[in-house]
Amino acid sequence: MPPWLAQISSAQRKESKLNASRWIQLATIGIDNTPRVRTVVFRGWSESYEMEIYIDKRSLKNEELDLNNNVEVCWLFSKSKCQFRFRGTSRIELGDERQRHWNQLSEKSKSMWSWPSPGKHLFYDQTKDFYVNEMEEISVNFAILKIDIFHVDQLILHNTIHTRRRWIRNKDWIEERINP
Ligand SMILES: Cc1cc2nc3c(=O)[nH]c(=O)nc-3n(C[C@H](O)[C@H](O)[C@H](O)COP(=O)(O)O)c2cc1C
Repeated sequence: MPPWLAQISSAQRKESKLNASRWIQLATIGIDNTPRVRTVVFRGWSESYEMEIYIDKRSLKNEELDLNNNVEVCWLFSKSKCQFRFRGTSRIELGDERQRHWNQLSEKSKSMWSWPSPGKHLFYDQTKDFYVNEMEEISVNFAILKIDIFHVDQLILHNTIHTRRRWIRNKDWIEERINP
């Protein structure tokens, strides 16, 4: 288990009652080589400690990641005034485990993958169908994005002194204290 995982698990436990503690900011490189960022839900860690996020295959981020799979994730724990930044590379999970993840979603959540294509022009009558589709079968648009992390930076704002540390995979994940 990488040593930074204990730090993030502890922050998660402290803020587990807040929905927002699972909201993370995922930054990608746009097709025009400029930055893109959006909020997504943290869904868990894989057995090899990749970060898991559910996305729609039709979304722009999927296209961006196809061209450049370098990402950064920013995760703020507001009560603890603690920020983590993760650098990594992403991949789309193609294996059987998609079904297991899909089965864990509520019917309401599943229906989102049958909505009209994200980012395309809205046609008014399409909104009528937004929550009515029963999704028995796994949607072809449902994808699990996995982020293989190679750099973690943590900053905690205490009243008097701030703490900053980082872990780098190429340096055997040895904790380094750095200036805040
Ligand atoms: C609170 C919140 C949670 C969200 N969770 C997700 C998510 O888990 N996966 C996702 O693809 N988009 C999620 N979104 C929507 C994204 O922020 C974004 O609008 C959408 O994915 C389209 O982004 P793109 O055009 O850059 O691909 C969420 C938005 C909010 C406000």
